[in-house]
Amino acid sequence: MRLSGKKMILNLKELKPADVQNYLQHAIAPRPICFASTIDKAGNINLSPFSFFNLFSSNPPIVIFSPARRVRDNTTKHTLQNVEEVREVVINIVDYDMVQQTSLSSCEFPKGTNEFIKAGFTAEKATMITPPMVKESKIKLECKVIEIKPLGTGGGAGNLVICEVLCMHIAESILDENNKIDQTKLHHVARLGGDWYCKVDETNLFKVVKPNMQLGIGIDALPESIRNSTVLSGNHLGQLANVHEMPFVDPTFNDDKLKNIIQYYSINPKEMDLELQRYAKELLDEGKVNEAWQILLADY
Ligand SMILES: Cc1cc2nc3c(=O)[nH]c(=O)nc-3n(C[C@H](O)[C@H](O)[C@H](O)COP(=O)(O)O)c2cc1C
Repeated sequence: MRLSGKKMILNLKELKPADVQNYLQHAIAPRPICFASTIDKAGNINLSPFSFFNLFSSNPPIVIFSPARRVRDNTTKHTLQNVEEVREVVINIVDYDMVQQTSLSSCEFPKGTNEFIKAGFTAEKATMITPPMVKESKIKLECKVIEIKPLGTGGGAGNLVICEVLCMHIAESILDENNKIDQTKLHHVARLGGDWYCKVDETNLFKVVKPNMQLGIGIDALPESIRNSTVLSGNHLGQLANVHEMPFVDPTFNDDKLKNIIQYYSINPKEMDLELQRYAKELLDEGKVNEAWQILLADY
């Protein structure tokens, strides 16, 4: 470890695996949770959560999760052993209503323990594969395991379980009128570092408008006084620079607050500049990019 200026620089090769895991899990966060239901050749069912998990392709539809070798004693997880025997898995998506029971299921119960029973979840028959689904989960993915890729042989080494999604089950309660998933209705939980989790709901969801198909002008194309503003943040500049061409003054734009600022600060152009930027900032925070541009253009 090296302290340089105001930051710490870590050479991961010099750290213990447990510390590497700790730093990475706090940094790569939040991570969605794959609640994997698997079965062994003898028919024993297993249910365990994995946050080394994500979507990697939609055509073909591929998700990957990673049951790692235990850092403590380099043993492998029952989930990995099961998918090596029976190459099928139901990935149940975890939401806030399930989080405590999901965590309970991650206890290191002996092999052969059915965590549906231990954690109090209801097993529901899947339609295309053998392992059961978690009835309480609002989205379940029936998957075929197409490849298992070990990433190492030491403690902490991940094993990529590459899965093709064959079928999705989605609760009606989280659908909108077009039968699409309503993001505000599914309260996902995600794993961060240590014991930290986060919950997605209406209080913390926000939208970022997708960059224009016609390319944003870019921050380098913003007028210098905007680019070097002490009022506008990087987020505000990002919003302004996402327009596809430098806007013009709109003669029909009529705004009382703008008129007041111009009148009040006419003898102090520097203050006027700042006041206009403060007003533009308010508008940008409300997502009103065109209006914010008109306010800033009033300065030229
Ligand atoms: C929310 C959550 C996420 C987890 N993510 C992972 C993970 O990505 N990889 C991993 O190896 N273990 C992870 N664990 C730990 C496993 O769930 C735990 O080792 C479990 O006992 C494995 O069960 P199994 O041996 O029955 O497969 C996680 C635990 C929790 C609670």
